[in-house]
Amino acid sequence: MGNRTEQTAATPWWKRSVVYQIYPRSFCDGNGDGIGDLRGIIGKLDHLQALGIDVVWLSPVYASPNDDNGYDISDYRAIMPEFGTMADFDEMLDGLHRRGIKLMMDLVVNHTSDEHDWFVQACRSCDNPYRDYYIWRAPREDGSEPNNWESAFGGSAWQFHEPTGEYYLHLFSKKQPDLNWDNPKVREEVYDLMHFWLRKGVDGFRMDVINMIAKTPGLPDAPVCDPSSRWQPAFTTAADEDRLLLYLREMKERVLSHYDIITVGETPTVTTRLGLALTHQETGALHMLFQFEHMDLDHQGSKWMGRELDLYELKRVTSRWQTELAVHGWNSLYLSNHDQPRPVSRFGDDEEYRVESAKLLATFLHLQQGTPFIYQGEELGMTNVRFDSIDDYRDIETLNMYRIAVHERGEDPQQVLSWIHAKSRDNARTPFQWDDSEHAGFSTVRPWIGVNPNYRYVNAAQALADPDSVFRYYRCLIELRKAHAILVDGRYDLLNDTPDEVFAFTRTLGEQRLLVALNFSPDTVPWRRPDRLELGPVLIGNLPDEPAVSDGVVSLRPYEARVWWVG
Ligand code: GLC
Ligand code: CA
Repeated sequence: MGNRTEQTAATPWWKRSVVYQIYPRSFCDGNGDGIGDLRGIIGKLDHLQALGIDVVWLSPVYASPNDDNGYDISDYRAIMPEFGTMADFDEMLDGLHRRGIKLMMDLVVNHTSDEHDWFVQACRSCDNPYRDYYIWRAPREDGSEPNNWESAFGGSAWQFHEPTGEYYLHLFSKKQPDLNWDNPKVREEVYDLMHFWLRKGVDGFRMDVINMIAKTPGLPDAPVCDPSSRWQPAFTTAADEDRLLLYLREMKERVLSHYDIITVGETPTVTTRLGLALTHQETGALHMLFQFEHMDLDHQGSKWMGRELDLYELKRVTSRWQTELAVHGWNSLYLSNHDQPRPVSRFGDDEEYRVESAKLLATFLHLQQGTPFIYQGEELGMTNVRFDSIDDYRDIETLNMYRIAVHERGEDPQQVLSWIHAKSRDNARTPFQWDDSEHAGFSTVRPWIGVNPNYRYVNAAQALADPDSVFRYYRCLIELRKAHAILVDGRYDLLNDTPDEVFAFTRTLGEQRLLVALNFSPDTVPWRRPDRLELGPVLIGNLPDEPAVSDGVVSLRPYEARVWWVG
């Protein structure tokens, strides 16, 4: 198959890679203060190598007052002292590179911290040269906020600055003022700091809420979706696509095109149309995006108002992204990150079928076309946590929501805690479970956030010792991707006419074809495979033996995932 080899050779490394996200605060504490840090990461590089991943995406490690755990940056060229020093950073980068692993930094430039020197200066007076680095507006006639935009963390997206008599915009916390990308000086500053890190040898950027950088001219009110509130979700209204494309094209020309790097943009509310424009192999500025449609399927209005995942919807959304970005764009694949609950608790079964359903989700992730992203602990099948008291939670989004719901709206605290158990970002932020010793081997002292009590049996030491662990299964999937070009380059096609509980699709490359069958339910489900697809050898499966097959009907067992070569 000369054709296949050619295609593979032309496939860029970032399409062939598997990325692993580290949330440094929760990964490993190297100096015994209860907070994860760079020395902790340095001590665990062998874990990453054992898993077989190619790239690390490191959540922010820059100087920050930590209002939003590092996503509020006060100095883009300095390391947060809690995490270590620049020398530690260099040592970590070197340790990764020596193991053949690349490093992707988090680029958070929709906003800075309010403690960044630019903002401190901007607050001095209306004619300070840094004033226009941010987005300021006079109050309305009655003194109220310039529009009805809601901050992603609750309340108005505007904060009044008493001394200068104007409001500034913050789409996130009031300690995260939005930068004014229409100011060419701001763009220059960003390009400079990107060059600073790239010259140090980092291999790319994950760009935080990058589709929000250009704001719609005139900053119009958002449509009212919650009539009981003065503030309305603003992302769709706030983002201006035309200027976004312009600014990212400029960034590509000035920075990105000068290095052999990997880029992924985080883009809430993005459509496939914009997704294709942003990732287009010739004209796009970025390699891939984090879209959110599959993450929103169990939301009802707000993310806190949950509903059951409808598998039909997951098939529809997955297939649309797979198909529309297939030829000219590229997808990122993820089920999990530091903002999302644990996938095994959310889409699988974190009790009886924890191991099986974690492996099913892993199969779903790695068998699609795109670059897979694994979030720390996902490879162990780590689960959501259920703290009994709001005092045990740390995340600003969770704490703000609780305060507004319980203290301003009078909701029942137990009810609100149940939403938090299901959806809080802290589900992803409990300490990584290294072993069954006290504090899960994460630290020698009580960590900054509680450890999930299931660390006694869900931990890395156990996973390495157990040949059937979730970790071993992830490693196997990563190896398969390296061994078979079809996993990277093969075309995705959904199989229709499957039972409601079954997600089945094929991947095709030249003469080769794989059939993927996933039973997303705790029941045994009979599934008639299409007659044209003759089952050949198994590529991978999450149960030790073959399912029963009779007359072309396969009995898929609870949470069974199976991939066959087909003729
Ligand atoms: C992104 C980050 C999230 C952060 C927000 C503001 O969504 O992933 O953690 O709170 O942007 O920077
Ligand atoms: Ca520490």
